[in-house]
Amino acid sequence: MSGASASPARPDVVPVLTIDGPSGSGKGTVCRAAAQALGWALLDSGALYRLVALAARQRGIALDDAPALGRLAEGLDIRFGSDAAGEELVWLDGRDVTRAIRTETAGNDASKVAALPAVRTALLGRQRRFVAPPGLVADGRDMGTVVFPDAAVKIFLTASADERAGRRYKQLKEKGVAATLAALSREIAERDQRDISRTASPLVASDDAVLLDTTGITVDAVVRRVLEIVRERLSPG
Ligand code: DC
Repeated sequence: MSGASASPARPDVVPVLTIDGPSGSGKGTVCRAAAQALGWALLDSGALYRLVALAARQRGIALDDAPALGRLAEGLDIRFGSDAAGEELVWLDGRDVTRAIRTETAGNDASKVAALPAVRTALLGRQRRFVAPPGLVADGRDMGTVVFPDAAVKIFLTASADERAGRRYKQLKEKGVAATLAALSREIAERDQRDISRTASPLVASDDAVLLDTTGITVDAVVRRVLEIVRERLSPG
């Protein structure tokens, strides 16, 4: 995508674009494309919760043991990078866990540990350290409300539950992962419920976020709209 450059109105402040929304709203794809078009760094905050959950499983820590999970989240040895083809890679304790954190089990486990304030607090500083010039795209559930409340641009993506389950189904099939649409719909509904109803940083649109419903809209069109919003917000005057 060309001509996407966006200069902040205040050059001394590194601009942050927060994109929040429920599972399957297309956030991951949209954030990656927006970060690439803008030349900004990307924070996949969901991956951090998935890493905590995976590490807990590996170490035999119960997913409701808040103090132990908080300590675990604080000390996790995590590294993000990419391979020669530009595909993202994630390491935990020096081991490649790129695929392991993307399973439905890891996602459901992540939603459980993400409900714990001890874990959320432990990950706050780590998330904020992703901010670096020329800008950051932050993908998550509470990016605009809690982690980056002063972000220059905030967007909240939604899509109908049916559409989200359909997208997830397609993604998993493409990766060769077995899944049924009915089970995915049920899991998405359960995860939404847990993410929306938790007391610690629930999934909610920030008052100052732009709402974008992506139901029936192509990824390219959503990315174009996101980039337009960024340019509108960051252009001086
Ligand atoms: O976006 P994802 O599917 O990778 O996120 C996995 C889980 O992590 C999701 O169920 C909710 C949780 N999460 C969160 O609570 N806060 C975030 N900023 C990102 C993810």
